[in-house]
Amino acid sequence: MCGIIGYIGKSEATGILIKGLKDLEYRGYDSGGIAVLNEKKLKTVKAKGEIRRLEEKLGGKDLGGTLGIGHTRWATHGKANEINAHPHCSNHFAVVHNGIIENYKEIKESLSMSGITFESETDTEVIPKLLELNYNGDVLDAIKKTVRLLEGSYALGILCTDDENTLYCTKKGSPLIIGVGKGENFIASDVNPLLHYTKDAVYLEDGETAAITAENITVYDSNFAETKKEIKTLSLSKSAADKGDFEHFMLKEIYEEPDVVRNTLNAVTDDGEIMFSDIPFTQEDFKALNRVYIVGCGSAYHVGLIAKYNFEKIAKIPAFAEYAGEFRYADTVIDESCLVIIISQSGETADSLAALKQAREMGAKTISVVNVPESSIAKMSHYNLLTLAGAEIAVATTKAFSCQLAMLNMLCLYIARQRNACTEVFSEIAVNMSSLLPKKIEKVLAKEDELKALAKEIKDMDKCFFLGRNVDYGVSLEGALKLKEISYIDCVGYPASELKHGTISLIEKDTVCFGLISNKDLLPKTVSNLIEVIARGAKVIVFAPESLKNDLPQFETVITYPDSIPLLTPSIEVIPLQLLAYHVAYEKGLPIDKPRNLAKSVTVE
Ligand code: M6R
Repeated sequence: MCGIIGYIGKSEATGILIKGLKDLEYRGYDSGGIAVLNEKKLKTVKAKGEIRRLEEKLGGKDLGGTLGIGHTRWATHGKANEINAHPHCSNHFAVVHNGIIENYKEIKESLSMSGITFESETDTEVIPKLLELNYNGDVLDAIKKTVRLLEGSYALGILCTDDENTLYCTKKGSPLIIGVGKGENFIASDVNPLLHYTKDAVYLEDGETAAITAENITVYDSNFAETKKEIKTLSLSKSAADKGDFEHFMLKEIYEEPDVVRNTLNAVTDDGEIMFSDIPFTQEDFKALNRVYIVGCGSAYHVGLIAKYNFEKIAKIPAFAEYAGEFRYADTVIDESCLVIIISQSGETADSLAALKQAREMGAKTISVVNVPESSIAKMSHYNLLTLAGAEIAVATTKAFSCQLAMLNMLCLYIARQRNACTEVFSEIAVNMSSLLPKKIEKVLAKEDELKALAKEIKDMDKCFFLGRNVDYGVSLEGALKLKEISYIDCVGYPASELKHGTISLIEKDTVCFGLISNKDLLPKTVSNLIEVIARGAKVIVFAPESLKNDLPQFETVITYPDSIPLLTPSIEVIPLQLLAYHVAYEKGLPIDKPRNLAKSVTVE
């Protein structure tokens, strides 16, 4: 996490750095800071909290300089305070860092023994101190000697007081992009801050270092030999980062779901046929698979869990949903007969990236479902299925989740087809998805007022449970995560059958239980579980398709959504849960788009 930005050119750096940090704030908002270099002097300003605090502290003043670096922090080592805020400095150097230096304690101990002192509790501060120690007038040489001592991950922006014409940067395991301007250049953790100024970019690879002046970019490989880099054209447009008429990005992004799901599906379908152009696997490869692992973190894992049920039911292949952070350390038996599908909005989640790397090393076929085309995960997998959610700004994912789910459905049908399973309904389902799903999502959006009223009613609950079976269990987990991450209410999703094996002891008078029932066959089972909790005083709110409403007379509150074929139901069922979470957090007056302690992109494990 953390976002870094850097600028060198002819304009005042301060405003450009602040604007860039605002674009990167989704990566962390515990503190912000900038350093600007002018006349061999570093001027640094830092503030605890969101970037607007840093801006307030600057009071509209420029620091006076056209070369600078900036940072927005998600605290890992040390409290979220001003001392721990970046940039961190030594006599000649200022450094901003995204990543984690795993051996910082050893380095700190050995530097302390030589009398070097530290101000902060951060892992980062060892970097400017090491640069200083290794500096003999040659900045690149100091960087080379320093990075060889670092274990862990880093993207670094570096200034040296002796070199007023160069912005240095280097990376390993954390993203860093160079924006190529005219008479000015930029560095940033992602493309968003760059898009204000340029569409040309150079992507640094792990181990590479760059020395950037206003006119030139020189990149060095891991042996510090000069290397040529391709300039790529950025495809995203800037408009997505605008709230429009909405009060929050989250609500705007929920309302974008019909369009982005349609775009995602249309991009891979043609006349009801699924077209994964240039997929590097043959029909024989798919037939030879003996299992599928679907891997992700947070909401991406929930997509995987829902898809797991569908892969087994429709593609008739053993499928397992795995948390990336567990998968990577679980000694799972992986070989070339496995397909590992990695799901990630950002494409930079550290655990998901590590899981992918491991799967590749063990010979698995890998497919990623990612929203950012140039991200590390998209680039590392054998094949990426791009979701077209556009930039998602709110920390709580909504539209990216829906696009991932839609894409996993397509992949499931494609694999079913390749393995000659379920061919008869294939085209019908694919057509249904791209033409009908967005319309059904629109119908749920029209129920926003009903969910707003429900939110007002339940906003003061201190805990709640989401219960479902099969795919409804996956949606339950997502409903619980959505509500807890923005409303700070203690919510847990469970398989409906599991509650009585322990958790039911938590049910007391008026505990809220959300029951998810999308499947007529499983309805009697989940209903009896819900009746068990009502008997213990719980207040039950059921979410079900319109056609099941009459089968649920025992429940006071039933929120309905349009019926659909089972494959698509989770995509529709999740929308009211997203709206409910939004309105509960709204009623509680919480910072919906930037909930406490969180960051959009989790690039540390
Ligand atoms: O970028 P990714 O999809 O890899 O992120 C995975 C999770 O961090 C993410 O889904 C997280 O759980 C969201 N905050 C949930 O809304």
